[in-house]
Amino acid sequence: MQTIYATFNKSITPLNELKISVLDRAYFFGDAVYEVLRVYNGQPALLAMHLERLTASLTHLGIKCLSGIEEDLLQNIAKNKVDEGMVYVQASRGGSHRMHSFFKQELEPNVLIYTQPFLEHPSEAEARQGIRAITHDDLRWGCCHIKSVNLLPNCLAQSSAHQVGAQEAILIKDDYVTEGSTSNVFIVKDQITMTPPLSMNILPGTRRKYLIQALAAHGHHVIERPIKKPELFAADEVFITSTIKEALPVTHIDQQAINGGRMGPMAKRARDLIVAHVSPAKAGVQRRS
Ligand code: PDD
Repeated sequence: MQTIYATFNKSITPLNELKISVLDRAYFFGDAVYEVLRVYNGQPALLAMHLERLTASLTHLGIKCLSGIEEDLLQNIAKNKVDEGMVYVQASRGGSHRMHSFFKQELEPNVLIYTQPFLEHPSEAEARQGIRAITHDDLRWGCCHIKSVNLLPNCLAQSSAHQVGAQEAILIKDDYVTEGSTSNVFIVKDQITMTPPLSMNILPGTRRKYLIQALAAHGHHVIERPIKKPELFAADEVFITSTIKEALPVTHIDQQAINGGRMGPMAKRARDLIVAHVSPAKAGVQRRS
């Protein structure tokens, strides 16, 4: 298997040899933020949007804003010679002895970056047939707009989905849809596309933002409004967006078929728009197929 090189605080080491102190606050407290970027043709897609969100996450948590991440990230992709894959970036507050409060502690953030190649496209097969989802209680904290590494409720929800042969868990808070365990959620009813509004309950997804802008540029305005759980089941279409999955139709939720269990036109359009922007070569291939 190809060696994956990590950049840790600017030093390059094979990922599987990298040693990080257990005193890092990410280990004890989940005191870290992250980004996942998609690489197409050796280039990170929507880089500016990801860096903007990373800066916002760091700022929200008062972790010292870090310089040079963009250069390190581009260098890491090149070092790993990755054409198709993903980049993981994590920045923690740093480490000292275990103490909840970081007040007056002089901490140096730790930054980890690595690029992983994809052996196969992570969503092409799912895009052809659509995915199954379950609904699941949203058990997360009140700052889901911060992309922190505290992902245990997301992991539990997605594992519950996998346990019953579904691929994603759609999270429900007080009878309203928030988002997926690793994605944003859209529904379509009577040709109107809707998605929950930005709030502290959801991650401001890069593909969500890109898609809303791209659809508006084509004269189709997405309504951002709270979506009640029953609206999912009454929808003509449901689809999810994320960096890794791009856009995927949800054909079944809690075993109930949506749109007769078939991919709808808006999910296809969403996927085409996202793929066309981030990977023009691939979009050409998809359009021909
Ligand atoms: N997650 N909501 C949650 C909870 C997510 O974890 C993600 C993505 C999204 C979509 O955001 P974006 O469009 O920027 O990828 C929404 C990444 C892919 C992950 O944790 O691996």
